[in-house]
Amino acid sequence: MKILVSYSSLTGNTKKVATAIYNELLLHSEVNRVDLLPITNSINIGDYDYIFHGFWVDKENADPKSKKYFSIIQNKKIALFATLGALADSPHAHKSMQKAGLLLDESNTLLPTFICRGKIDPILTERRRKKYPIGHKQALTPEREALHISSHKHPNKDDLKNAREWAISVLRQ
Ligand SMILES: Cc1cc2nc3c(=O)[nH]c(=O)nc-3n(C[C@H](O)[C@H](O)[C@H](O)COP(=O)(O)O)c2cc1C
Repeated sequence: MKILVSYSSLTGNTKKVATAIYNELLLHSEVNRVDLLPITNSINIGDYDYIFHGFWVDKENADPKSKKYFSIIQNKKIALFATLGALADSPHAHKSMQKAGLLLDESNTLLPTFICRGKIDPILTERRRKKYPIGHKQALTPEREALHISSHKHPNKDDLKNAREWAISVLRQ
């Protein structure tokens, strides 16, 4: 089988997860070919049986480049994975993945998904702090600030291990 691991990544979190998945897939004999590619306008998805695609969560959905990429994918087996700043088992994480999946054409077969946390860029945290005064519904409350800080450790070793295990379970199902 031929597999493409594609990804979109602004600050490197999703690239790390994509690379871990790629390295894992390389180890398995049933995989004849696996390529790791960031998405670009000239990406060729022609003869891959499977696409493992990683996006970063943007406003509870896939990031803009991934959304555009989804529109060219047809008749593939697709395993989506993602990173986000929020907790991975939160309703927000589930909804983000669900909304991203709904953007894919019905001719595709959607396989199980994987999502884990990724470091929130401290520039974003600072921007939010400045933009929204205390009392505003978007303000950086102490709880939100703690969430931003705890995201800094991700994706960690366990996240990458879980991603690798997930990738193999997808192939073997
Ligand atoms: C413009 C923008 C919007 C974001 N929106 C969300 C969001 O809705 N929910 C969330 O949990 N994280 C959000 N994040 C955080 C990123 O999804 C997270 O840091 C991700 O791991 C970044 O991946 P990357 O390093 O591959 O770019 C947002 C980040 C940016 C830059």
